[in-house]
Amino acid sequence: MAYDTKLFLAAVCGAVYLTTSEPYTCYGDICNVSGKYQYCDVTYKLCRYCADVQDDCFTRLQSYNCTSYCYERRRNQDLERSRVSDCTVPHVPENGRYDVKSSQVPFGFKLNVICDDGYTLSVSEPMRCGNFSTWFGLKPLCQGASQDMSTVWKSMLIAFGLLLGVSVMVNIIVGVCRFLK
Ligand SMILES: *[C@@H]1O[C@H](CO)[C@@H](O)[C@H](O)[C@H]1NC(C)=O
Ligand SMILES: *[C@@H]1O[C@H](CO)[C@@H](O)[C@H](O)[C@H]1NC(C)=O
Ligand SMILES: *[C@@H]1O[C@H](CO)[C@@H](O)[C@H](O)[C@H]1NC(C)=O
Repeated sequence: MAYDTKLFLAAVCGAVYLTTSEPYTCYGDICNVSGKYQYCDVTYKLCRYCADVQDDCFTRLQSYNCTSYCYERRRNQDLERSRVSDCTVPHVPENGRYDVKSSQVPFGFKLNVICDDGYTLSVSEPMRCGNFSTWFGLKPLCQGASQDMSTVWKSMLIAFGLLLGVSVMVNIIVGVCRFLK
C-alpha cells in the first residue's frame, strides 16, 4: 500500500472513530484497554494492536511500541522460510536415475527414481523434501534381478555339491564295511 493511501485510510478511520463510540480511548499514548502489543496511534488517537498494522513493520509508519512485535514477526517469517526451503538432490542410486535434472528441488517435492532395465526399485514411496531441507522416506535402491538369479544358482550349486559329497562318503563307508566283512 502506498504511503498516501495509508494516510488517507488512517484519516477515514479517524473520522469513523470520531463518529462512532469505540469501547476504548487513548490517554496520551496509553490505551484504556488492557492487552498485549496495544498502543495508541499518535496522529489519530486510535487504539491499535500491532497485528492490525503489521504491514507497517520496518517502514517509517511503524510504531515504536510495535518494535518487539515486528522483530518477533520477522523471526517467525525467517524460520518459516527456512522450514520450507529447497532440498539438495542426493547422489543418484546405482543402476538408476532421477526423473529430475536439477540439483535443488522445492519443499514437498517427491523424488522419483527410474531404475535401469533389469533392476527394480526397493521402495514403493519416493523420498519427499520435508522441513528444513531434510529428506523424508527410505533411501531408494535399484536391485538387480540378474544378481538375484546368480545367488539362486550359487546356492543350488552348493546344495548339489553337498549332496554329491554325502553320497560319496556313504559309498566309501559302505565299501569299507563290505571290505571288512
Ligand atoms: C475507556 O474510556 C472510555 C472513555 O472514558 C470509556 O467509555 C470506556 O468504557 C473505557 N473502556 C475501558 C475498557 O475501560
Ligand atoms: C508505548 O511506548 C511508550 C514510549 O516508550 C511507552 O511509554 C508506552 O508505555 C508504550 N505503550 C504500550 C501499550 O506498550
Ligand atoms: C514440519 O513442520 C510443521 C510446522 O512446524 C509441522 O506441523 C510438521 O509436523 C512438520 N513435519 C514433520 C514431518 O516433522
